[in-house]
Parts: sequence; structure tokens; C-alpha cells
Amino acid sequence: MTLNPKLTKLFNEQINNEMASSYIYLAMSAWFEQTPYSGFAQWMFTQSREETMHALKFYQYLVDRDAKVELQPIAKPKADFKNVLDVFEHSLKQEQKVTQQINDLFEVAEQVKDHASKNLLLWFLNEQMEEEKSVRDMIDRLKLAGNDPASLLVLDREAGARKTTGGGASDKAGE
Ligand SMILES: [Fe+2]
Ligand SMILES: [Fe+2]
Repeated sequence: MTLNPKLTKLFNEQINNEMASSYIYLAMSAWFEQTPYSGFAQWMFTQSREETMHALKFYQYLVDRDAKVELQPIAKPKADFKNVLDVFEHSLKQEQKVTQQINDLFEVAEQVKDHASKNLLLWFLNEQMEEEKSVRDMIDRLKLAGNDPASLLVLDREAGARKTTGGGASDKAGE
């Protein structure tokens, strides 16, 4: 079944959205590298790689559906932040935005009755739920820690120990 042109366009846009997310997280990682928080830098770096994997998953889907891939320029990410909490709050906003994008894509897939696309997008919607949750949990704990350096260092160490989550162990484009 040929992929619907509107879906093809939106999936191409989603490749770009995921690459933009990857870039945003990489910029956040770079920002943390300039601070004592090497654990948060690692967390953001891991997140950046996962977003690239998401982009590749959409890329592979277009290829598998014999649809045309059209890569677009990636927007310059924000490079300056106020503090640790500020970075994670931006991260949550970014994830909420992506959830909305994928939700919109799902709606179009539903309209054109493309069940294979819906299936792929469901995987992504679950992934988004997990990502939003892990960022929200971190924000809650950062708020508890406040400006206490010792508490922040505990969270930093935990963040640095983060295993690659999501990405889907059984998915070829995932981790
Ligand atoms: Fe993503
Ligand atoms: Fe994400």
C-alpha cells in the first residue's frame, strides 16, 4: 500500500523534529559539560542519542514503505540556561511538543486508515509517555533539592548512572 502523501510529508517532518530534539539535548549536554554536573551531561548525551534513534526509526519506516525521504535543515538549539532546573524544564516542554506532534500524526494516520502507521505511532506515543515521566520525576526531585549542592550532586550521580531507556530493546532502530 502506497503511503498517503500527507502522511509522507508529516513523517518527513517528524524525522526533522526528532533530529532537532537530538540537537537540543546535545546542546544541553554541552551546557552541563561546562558545569560540575557530569552526570546530567551524560544523561542529556544519552537522551540525544535516543532522539537520533527515533529519527532513524521514522527514516527506516519511510524507506520500508517505499516513500520518499526528504531531509531538512536542523534548527539551531538553545545554548544557554539559568540553572539545572531550567534545563530540565525546557526538556519537558520539548517532550510535550513532540508528544503533540506524534498525536497529530496519529490522527492523520487514523483518517486515512493506515494501520501500519498507527502501529508505529503507538510505539512512539508510549515512548513519549515514558520520556515525559522521567523528566517530570527529575524536575520534582530538583525542586526538592533546591540550591543545596550536596542534594544536587546526589541527583547528578543518579542521572549519570542512567541506563539507556526506551528506544525499544527489540527494535532495530532502537537501543
Ligand atoms: Fe523522540
Ligand atoms: Fe524525546
